[in-house]
Parts: sequence; structure tokens; C-alpha cells
Amino acid sequence: MSLLSGKKILLGITGGIAAYITPLLVRALVQQAAEVRVVMTPASKDFVTPLTLSTLSKNPVLSTFTAEDQDNPLWNDHVELGQWADLLLIAPATANTLSSLVQGRCNNLLLAVYLSAKCPVIVAPAMDLDMYAHPSTSNNIKTLQSYGNQVLDVDEGFLASGLEGKGRMLEVEEIVAHVVSFFNPKLPLKNQKVLITAGPTYEAIDPVRFIGNHASGKMGFALAEVAIGMGAAVTLISGPSAEKYSHPSLHQVNVVSADDMLAAVQEFYDTSDIAIAAAAVADFKPQKIASQKLKKEEGFESISLVPTVDVLSYMGKHKNNQKLIGFALETENELENAQAKLKRKNLDGIVLNSLQDAAAGFSVPTNKITFIHADLRTHSYPLQSKLDCAHRIFEQILTL
Ligand code: CTP
Repeated sequence: MSLLSGKKILLGITGGIAAYITPLLVRALVQQAAEVRVVMTPASKDFVTPLTLSTLSKNPVLSTFTAEDQDNPLWNDHVELGQWADLLLIAPATANTLSSLVQGRCNNLLLAVYLSAKCPVIVAPAMDLDMYAHPSTSNNIKTLQSYGNQVLDVDEGFLASGLEGKGRMLEVEEIVAHVVSFFNPKLPLKNQKVLITAGPTYEAIDPVRFIGNHASGKMGFALAEVAIGMGAAVTLISGPSAEKYSHPSLHQVNVVSADDMLAAVQEFYDTSDIAIAAAAVADFKPQKIASQKLKKEEGFESISLVPTVDVLSYMGKHKNNQKLIGFALETENELENAQAKLKRKNLDGIVLNSLQDAAAGFSVPTNKITFIHADLRTHSYPLQSKLDCAHRIFEQILTL
């Protein structure tokens, strides 16, 4: 079930450049099964069109107190809008709107909705850095918070003015994460960052050939889906895979080789809380990658191989506070080998994949797993879907 299923969200858009991102915000909320209606200030229509927003939200978009219907103007009922919503989300909120909200001004439909709404309000400010740093704005934010509104932080970075600093509206994924945790305050992985490696790696022989394996990425993608369902923000570093899953809380990094995977892991590992290595990283790579396609007639009976980098061992060596989980694919002495791997790679848990069952392991949608803890306690599970396996794995991780 989606985390925003059936939630009624009224999105208020005001006239700042960040308004151009709001179609993505609407799409992300709708993807999570929220019902979205949009109220725009007249100024925001210079940055994003009502047609885009009504198409994505599948609801009419309102921006004025009345709507023309031939000779009979209709009243756009701000009271009804405020009563309909479970949450009023104002994003982006300009400095001008923050000030108007504080003063209780009512000269556009969105401000009237805010004043009459009884539901909680989340505000995502966006403006240039000096406007954001101005004491008037800081005071307005404090006052709005003192009225019980949740005011989100802003991001730092490039601003439309060409300057760089604090003032950018939070990324869509972050805003959605706030909305999700607002509606689901008890999610077990709320505010947790989860890093997952998935899929195979391809080690190039020449521009057209590679050494690879049959891993599909299914297990890693299933883990990502379950972690997101529990409220986590997930970075999924995937080798070549046909699997598809998109979600506002998912950041997917596509890689090809073991070296690429390590580089991506190095970028995201430090800030993660939980890391799971589900990738089937190739163990060897050609010593040299031929710059041109190797020709048959020249013959190449053998390829010199060298070991690839062990991505999981890197994570084990550089652990700060992460809970680190690996996988082990064994064909003999399964438990002993998996336990040895757990110790060798400095893990908190390892998932043993059995290849004893034809329906378990590579490429198939099902798996048969045993979760082994660092104290060598084991939990074995029957054959089940990879999504169910992912649930079992997180049940164990939550006990760590
Ligand atoms: N792993 C990794 N980088 C590698 C090899 C493995 O990150 N170069 C990770 C896998 O993602 C998995 C764990 O290490 O979580 C164990 O992988 P596995 O292939 O079972 O073991 P290996 O370490 O490769 O050892 P062996 O092939 O000897 O069993």
C-alpha cells in the first residue's frame, strides 16, 4: 500500500522560480496515491501553467476567487477547499507569501484558503539568499512556526539570480519525505538513509564484450522497495539490470563495472545508516581493456584476469555507524562459508542465498534465504518471493 494512499493534499503554489518544479511535486504525490488539488497565486502562473498542474493532479486548478461561467460567475469556495484537505502544502512559498501568511492578509485565493483551513500546514520556502537571510524573513518563519505551521528548511546551491547560497526550495524527494513522515510518524526507517548495491557488474574485455553474470537485480530492487515502504530514503547503486522501480524516495545510480560501483559507494556510504550489498559483483576483470574490438582472425585464446575491487570489504573497512549487511552465494559448506565471509568483511549480518532449490537465486523471482547475525544466530526461511525475502531481511535488520 502506498504511504499517501487516500490522503487529500492541497498544494498552494506561489510566484517564485521554484514553481517550475511543482509539476514534479504533484506527480510524486499522485504516484504515492495522494489526492492532490492545486491552488495557485496569480503570480505563480508566470512560472508554471495551470494546464500542466490540472493534467498531472487530475483536478481543476484554482487561482481566483471566482470562475467565469458565461454570465454566471462561480465562487471558488476557499472554505470548502480548506475543509477538504488533510494537509495544506505551500511550495514554493515566496518571501512575500510568508509575510502575508504572518499578517493574515487575504488578497488572493491561496491566502484565503490558508486563513480558513483547519488542517495542518507545511510551508517550503524558496527565495534568493539575501531575502532568506533577512531578519524580516527569519522573524516571519519563526512567527509562522509559533502558529503551529511546519516550515521546512531550504537547500543551499545555485540560485536563479546567479548567486550561490541558502534559499533553494528543498528537492521534490525531500518535500515528499516530509509529507510522508507527517502522515506516517511511526515508520520504522523514518529519516534513515539506506544504501543498496544491486545487479551484476560488467567488466569490459573490449568495446563490445564483457565478463558478467546472470544476476538480475531483482533482490536489490525488492530491498529498495521495502525500505522505502518503511520510510527510508534509498540510494540504489545498480549494475546493468532490466528492473524498473521509480519512487520519489529512490535515488538510483546506474553503474557498469565493479570500479564504477565502488566509486558510487564511496560517494554515498559515509552518510548512510544502513548499507546492503546485494550486487553480484564480478570477481575478476580483464587485466587490459582492448581499445578496439578484438578480431577473430587475430585469435585470443586466453584473457589475463585480475581481481576486481571488493566493494563490500571497502564498506566493512570504512564503517562508521552503518549497519552493514552482505549476501553470500555458496554451493558447499554454506553456513560455514557465509559465517566466515561475515567476519572477514566486518558485517553485522549476512544473507545466505541457497542454490539448492531450482526456484531460488539468480534471475528468478523467488529466493530461499538464511539471515545470519554477527553472533552467528541464524534464521532460515522457506522459498518465497524476493519481495517477501526483502521484508524478512529488514525484520532482522531492525533487530540489530
Ligand atoms: N561483493 C562485493 N564486491 C566484490 C565481491 C563481492 O561487494 N568484488 C559483495 C557481494 O555484493 C556480496 C558479498 O560481497 O554481498 C559476497 O559476495 P560473494 O560473491 O558471495 O562472495 P565473494 O566475496 O565474491 O567470495 P567468493 O566468490 O570466494 O565466494
